[in-house]
Amino acid sequence: MNAKIAGIGFFVPERIVTNEELTKLMDTTSEWIVERTGIEERRYVEKHKETTSTLAAEAAKIAIERAGLTTQDIDFIVFATLSPDYYFPGSGVLLQRHLGIKGIGCLDVRTQCTGFIYAISVADQYIKTGMYKNILVVGAEVHSAGLDFTTRGRNVSVIFGDGAGAVVLQATEDETKGILTTNLHADGEYAEHLAFFNPGTHGGAFLKDQGGLDYPNEPDLGGMHLTQEMLDKEAIYPHMNGRYVFKHAVEKFPAAIEEACEAVGCTADDINMLIPHQANLRITQMIQLKFGFEDERVYNNIQKYGNTTAASIPIALCEAWEKGLIKDGDLVCLAAFGSGFTWGAAMIRW
Ligand code: UT7
Repeated sequence: MNAKIAGIGFFVPERIVTNEELTKLMDTTSEWIVERTGIEERRYVEKHKETTSTLAAEAAKIAIERAGLTTQDIDFIVFATLSPDYYFPGSGVLLQRHLGIKGIGCLDVRTQCTGFIYAISVADQYIKTGMYKNILVVGAEVHSAGLDFTTRGRNVSVIFGDGAGAVVLQATEDETKGILTTNLHADGEYAEHLAFFNPGTHGGAFLKDQGGLDYPNEPDLGGMHLTQEMLDKEAIYPHMNGRYVFKHAVEKFPAAIEEACEAVGCTADDINMLIPHQANLRITQMIQLKFGFEDERVYNNIQKYGNTTAASIPIALCEAWEKGLIKDGDLVCLAAFGSGFTWGAAMIRW
């Protein structure tokens, strides 16, 4: 039994935030952002009206309808996000509630930029073993709720955007179609190079003792309750060692793609469409150059949406498919790298 993508959808909030708008909040320029990242604009939710799970629900409804199903046909939900509605429970159960499907299992995946690859890999295994037939797999993020919009946070804040993408993975007896392989990787040695520390149970000193990064802004902070000290030290925002992440990304993306090719017995030349996690246009261009892909074989939409972490692959996959750039029988490769560090790839015969 294989798992094919029976339906796909994406949803982004209406509000467009241009680079120019960010220059009013922090010391940055549109030229810097475009030159270093390729991003021209991104979407932000309407605060307190749209959440991670409501974006996910909009994307999911489209995917379910395109699969020719109703919500009641869904057997299981896998939800990837690093920006959940609540600390707990996970956003999976909230999505289930929005869709009005009672009783089915919901699994939340926390592997950040690689979240969607992990999520479809898990769903693929459930379908291969015959446990479920129709699994809703979603990646959704609301980054705008957690960013530091001062100059201090500019290296992170200009990159990220909000959005959601969803697929229905469905069992098929056609073994030539669907997900052919997935590979999943992680190296926790680098956990603190791209992280959001608080609230958390860590305690800065403990973190350091365990070989973690000594994050200068919060030497002894950590706890499940935000404290005045955390607020005063402004240790409540995501932290990214950008250059370091970049360096690892340009090594691990290609490694994951090559591993996927090897697993299915093809070469990169056989890939009709590469859908990379939209981390940074410069990273994607380096991957493209390495493999010699023509522009038509790599899909980029980071210019319009920024980096939407777990949502970026399903949004890009859906948009490419809607534009007719992915056709029946095409070999589609998904690849990601991000916080954890985590990385991986999937190969799909459309
Ligand atoms: O989603 C997957 C995980 N994330 C990634 O893959 C991101 C990987 N990293 C990157 O994309 C890049 O490292 C960034 C886009 C985040 C940063 O680009 P960079 O070329 O690596 O810049 P940098 O961090 O080395 O900073 C260069 C300079 C610094 O100034 P000084 O020290 O040279 O005076 C920064 O303070 O650019 C400054 N800078 C900015 N200037 C204007 C950093 N952010 C900004 C900004 N606007 N938004």
